[in-house]
Amino acid sequence: MTKNTGTLYGIGVGPGDPDLITIKAAKILNQVDIVFAAASTKNDHSLAVNIAREHIPDKVTVIRLKFPMTRDKNETRQAWKAHSQTIIAELERGKNVAFLTLGDSMTYSTYGYILRYVQTLAPHLEVQTVPGITSYQAAAARLNTPLVEGEESLMVVSGAKGGNRLRELCGKPENIVFLKAYRNVTDIKAAIDESGKYSSCVGVKSCGHPDEEIVKDIEELSRRKPDYWTLIITKQTTNNGSTE
Ligand SMILES: C[S@@+](CC[C@H](N)C(=O)[O-])C[C@H]1O[C@@H](n2cnc3c(N)ncnc32)[C@H](O)[C@@H]1O
Repeated sequence: MTKNTGTLYGIGVGPGDPDLITIKAAKILNQVDIVFAAASTKNDHSLAVNIAREHIPDKVTVIRLKFPMTRDKNETRQAWKAHSQTIIAELERGKNVAFLTLGDSMTYSTYGYILRYVQTLAPHLEVQTVPGITSYQAAAARLNTPLVEGEESLMVVSGAKGGNRLRELCGKPENIVFLKAYRNVTDIKAAIDESGKYSSCVGVKSCGHPDEEIVKDIEELSRRKPDYWTLIITKQTTNNGSTE
């Protein structure tokens, strides 16, 4: 039986360096009919499109979907649903469609919400998700610092609520990545200091982009103007990585 609906590909484009897109993602981008990506309601800018640009042929239609930057859950849900319906309409017309996401498609990603709506509203449609390199994997590589070794654990946490997730866990994980550190660097720093367990703490801003910065002094990072594209990697000193 021939399939007359298209496939939705959820593509992680990596955190910034266009060379960090997987070969699989690049091959798919070369074959789809439409590329969708999230953009703010204020302008047409899409970082994900910029990163993937060299892998998207000129003939492919690129559509930037406007997502409101708001804390109003209803408004956000309405946008997810409306955009999912736009994508579903193209899939029903037989178009193969990519939805781009920064870093990895399954890590704190808008794609996760779009995916849920598409699967609920149109469960007959085929979906394939292609992973991407996360921002914190790229940052650890940039720092030449292992994220996790031996029997250690790694906690990846949203910093949107400051250092509270770390406080709840009483400094248990040996290694922590705070994404969405943004306006909360001061409180994240306070929670790290309170635990008294973390000997190393580095902020990485815009990893893989021309304005990339590595800030080894978290105090200094907390004094800077908040930047959304900031993550923090903090580590306890353990012997697990020892060569002795
Ligand atoms: C909504 S999350 C998206 C995470 C992404 N899907 C990933 O796999 O890394 C956005 C947060 O990821 C982090 N982030 C994403 N790209 C980054 C980059 N190039 N450099 C530093 N942090 C980045 C920042 O903490 C930002 O606030």
